[in-house]
Amino acid sequence: MTAAVQTHVGEKVLPVTDHTIVFGRIETEAAIERGAWLTGIVTGIDFGADQIRTILHLLGVSVWLGGQILMLGLLPVLRKIGGDAPKLAAAGFGRVAWPAFGLTIVTGIWNMLEVDLGDVTSGYNAAFGIKMILVVVTGMAAAMHQSTNKPAIRGITGALGFAAALAAFVLGATMAH
Ligand code: HEM
Repeated sequence: MTAAVQTHVGEKVLPVTDHTIVFGRIETEAAIERGAWLTGIVTGIDFGADQIRTILHLLGVSVWLGGQILMLGLLPVLRKIGGDAPKLAAAGFGRVAWPAFGLTIVTGIWNMLEVDLGDVTSGYNAAFGIKMILVVVTGMAAAMHQSTNKPAIRGITGALGFAAALAAFVLGATMAH
């Protein structure tokens, strides 16, 4: 029997037939074997530990980097409000940003354990090394940025921390498996 609905089996799009159920079961078993234990009956999509690892890494990254972009956008508004507004907002951002940075590092180490670093190209290794330097730079610059009371140093470290995070993001995306 053939229904009008279509389903993905691997790369192919097939009409739903009795055979699809068999294909679906095979796909599901293969997905579970790959560690995609939540995939269930959805074929052609994996959801498991690998996806959770990537989601958590990118969640940390999005708060650390995206939060800085948001702060840049809010700064003129906060200055307009005046008083302690910029300082209070920066402190509020710090309470969210540092745990997010911690999450990025912990999940980054998890990434390293999952990616077989003995089995990557020298280009990948170089990108990874540069990214690690950028991670140290963004963390150190942000720490200096929030602790200095010299406006010039605050400006330079703010820009440096942001640029390093953005560059780490670009390199990270090229490293994705
Ligand atoms: C601000 C800091 C960081 C940024 C912006 C960043 C960004 C990214 C991005 C965008 C990806 C691609 C995600 C994907 O689609 O798989 C990625 C992957 C990766 N990151 Fe990071 N990351 C940061 C910190 C770290 C740290 C500290 C480590 C290691 C200790 C790390 C190790 C990795 C590895 C090994 C991958 C490849 C994962 C895979 O292929 O499955 N990252 N990162």
